[in-house]
Amino acid sequence: MSIGSIQNVQEMLKNKLPGKGTNIFTVMSKMAQDHGAINLAQGFPDFDGPQALRNRVAWHIANGHNQYAPLAGVAELRNQIAIKVLDLYGCRIDSDREVAVTPGATEAIFCAITAVIHPGDEAIVFDPCYDTYEPSVTLNGGVTKHIAMRYPDFAIDWQQVRDTITDRTRLIILNTPHNPTGCLWSEEDIQALREVVSDRDIHIISDEVYEHIVFGHGRHLSLLRFPDLAARTFVISSFGKTYHTTGWRVGYCIAPPALMEEFLRIHQFVNFSTHTPMQYALADFMRDCPQHHHELGDFYQHKRDLFCELMKPSRFSLAPSDSTYFQLADYSAISNEPDTEFAARLTREQKVAAIPVSVFYDQDPGQSIVRFCFAKHDDTLQEATARLKMV
Ligand SMILES: Cc1ncc(COP(=O)(O)O)c(C=O)c1O
Repeated sequence: MSIGSIQNVQEMLKNKLPGKGTNIFTVMSKMAQDHGAINLAQGFPDFDGPQALRNRVAWHIANGHNQYAPLAGVAELRNQIAIKVLDLYGCRIDSDREVAVTPGATEAIFCAITAVIHPGDEAIVFDPCYDTYEPSVTLNGGVTKHIAMRYPDFAIDWQQVRDTITDRTRLIILNTPHNPTGCLWSEEDIQALREVVSDRDIHIISDEVYEHIVFGHGRHLSLLRFPDLAARTFVISSFGKTYHTTGWRVGYCIAPPALMEEFLRIHQFVNFSTHTPMQYALADFMRDCPQHHHELGDFYQHKRDLFCELMKPSRFSLAPSDSTYFQLADYSAISNEPDTEFAARLTREQKVAAIPVSVFYDQDPGQSIVRFCFAKHDDTLQEATARLKMV
């Protein structure tokens, strides 16, 4: 038996996101499962977060922290976030008025976009871009303007940004460290952004979920380092990326009081609040183990180096990623198939799943690149690269 259906239900239900099917991460993970492939597609580790952190979750569940958390998140965690951003970025925030803990960075992105975008407003994004930005703009009646960054350097064309801005531009969404390219915004980018937004009624969302995963001499330029830009910005991060706990769905947003007030007005009707025991556990762990986020770059740099080294004998071409846990690979020496077909074939035949980079673009730039996630056990990387060498 199935649930009854009224006639013409399809016509009654007008799709608010036409053209948007199941996202590529779900599609490729399912394909990996169906073909018994190693999943280097979706961006999550195949290992757990720190034992001490997991123990604290169990402790808080056993000790009465199981009811609704406050709207903006538990005070202990907001305090730890404030301590961290002062330490890392020299930015002093009021943990009572300028921080909200959210169910993942994804909800924070949705609430920040909803806070800013009214019907007809325009938001600028840089392709290849994370897949939740545009749907959130669309659901709010806004229009997304895409600016493409191209392989191999993925530089931003600031003249194009200036040309794209109109009277309706209300928002610029940036992502640094950048998924999928691993690029970092430079001082020059920050200066160009400053010039572009000054004297304009434009807000910024700075998606910094990979803030701690930066390699070598690279430096993460959080917008929290720049008071004039931070004054108009929602800075968003994710505990899932930092503590290898993407399934816990905990992230946060930092914004000046006026923006945060509007953000919370929306957040209260979307999710109201975030997992209580996880928040207490994360607060304990941040207090007791700040070295975890300080050492995260080195931890992932080892994996990036291992992956790139193991891939050397393959016919893929790799320029080591500067940040994040993603590595792009150029397969033009192997095939001239479109990247979606190549990634599907790789999953079926070589039993390694990757993400085709064209899906992060509004207009397919016709590049022969796939994205691999190296947030995996060394053994997993050994096995996956042994298969990729055979392509
Ligand atoms: C650039 C970027 N932003 C946001 C997110 C979402 O983070 P969360 O899992 O905390 O919702 C991701 C996750 O992959 C991401 O890559």
